Amino acid sequence: MQREDFPMLNKDIIYFDNGATTFKPKEVINGVLDYYTNYTSNAHRGDYDLSQKVDYLYESTREVVQKFINAESSKEIIFTSGTTMSLNMIVSSFMRYYLAKGDEVLITKSEHASNVLPWLELEREKGIVVKYIPLDKDYKVTLENIQKVVTSKTKVISLAYVTNVIGDIRPIKEISKFAHSKDILMVVDGAQSVPHLKTDVIGDDIDFLAFSGHKMLGPTGVGVLYAKEKYLKVMKPLLYGGGMNSRFESDKKVEYKDLPLRLEAGTQNIAGVLGLREAILYLEKIGIDKIHKHEVELKKYLLKKLETIDNIEIYNKQSETGIVVFNIKNIFSEDTSRYLNHYKICVRAGNHCTKMLKDELGVKNTCRISFYLYNTKEEIDKLIAILKDNKRIYEVIL
Ligand code: ALA
Repeated sequence: MQREDFPMLNKDIIYFDNGATTFKPKEVINGVLDYYTNYTSNAHRGDYDLSQKVDYLYESTREVVQKFINAESSKEIIFTSGTTMSLNMIVSSFMRYYLAKGDEVLITKSEHASNVLPWLELEREKGIVVKYIPLDKDYKVTLENIQKVVTSKTKVISLAYVTNVIGDIRPIKEISKFAHSKDILMVVDGAQSVPHLKTDVIGDDIDFLAFSGHKMLGPTGVGVLYAKEKYLKVMKPLLYGGGMNSRFESDKKVEYKDLPLRLEAGTQNIAGVLGLREAILYLEKIGIDKIHKHEVELKKYLLKKLETIDNIEIYNKQSETGIVVFNIKNIFSEDTSRYLNHYKICVRAGNHCTKMLKDELGVKNTCRISFYLYNTKEEIDKLIAILKDNKRIYEVIL
């Protein structure tokens, strides 16, 4: 796909760490630059032309996002700093008031820290109970396993749509249907799915969704909280201040604005939002389905090649997205990553913020390759040649 659109690809590196963040096409970079160069002004505060242009672009980005994830209304799109903030808002600003002592929340041991720690904090604070859905032998979530742990006290199921290490796709539509038949709310961490798979919050009947701009070609520091309007309407603001109130008086009477502005206090990351708009338009131009197909093809190609190397252990052959986690046997994953770095190949090593997965995988640290639209089979061939020569690893890195 259009590699020439990505200035970072001219730097003679091979970038396989797209699960962490992605490169940006010129359209996104220029979108941000254009805002800072040609029409910098605040949103929702000015009556002059510049500010009105920003208002229009900022608000119409909400509609771009709404269509991209197939939400019912643009009021259901709240801009945040990213997935972490969105998930924290769901837990702190909604679940803190919705849940009572003893209520149960189901997660798994392959969730990212951002979908674990806010829940554990609420468990400490309110006495809710966080329980783990057992994973199957391929580290996947099945409805059968969910049914085994659901009780009359289960109120929320909170899952990544695609996990950031194993890269498995969860059957969210099937899980939502079951959850809603029992009045259980469905929270979805879309950080690793929205950039790679068609998102349909109506079709999947998702109650809350969180995702980040920077993992989908957009700028860092911008993301989205989606929730059904009936839940956002009762969500407490995380922040109070300018832009979210319609009046406050010395007699202490206060009125807040309606959705979505009520949940966006303070000057927002306007440049980030406008960059996210360009990122979505770019992804739509290429087609999410085409991107997913390309990544799956790259994964299959990589797996076939890795199998020709004796001492490689692969942990997620069976998952359906463009993520491959592996180790060179008896080599520390960070050493493998430093070895590849010597040849200008970027992969992520460690536990990938998914620290409980070791209980399921039996290994603490791994090397992760995560593809995106601009990766190629030629890049994989270069990686394979270097991995084949791995007997020299300590000669190279020490
Ligand atoms: N959550 C990001 C990752 O998986 C940073 O690498």
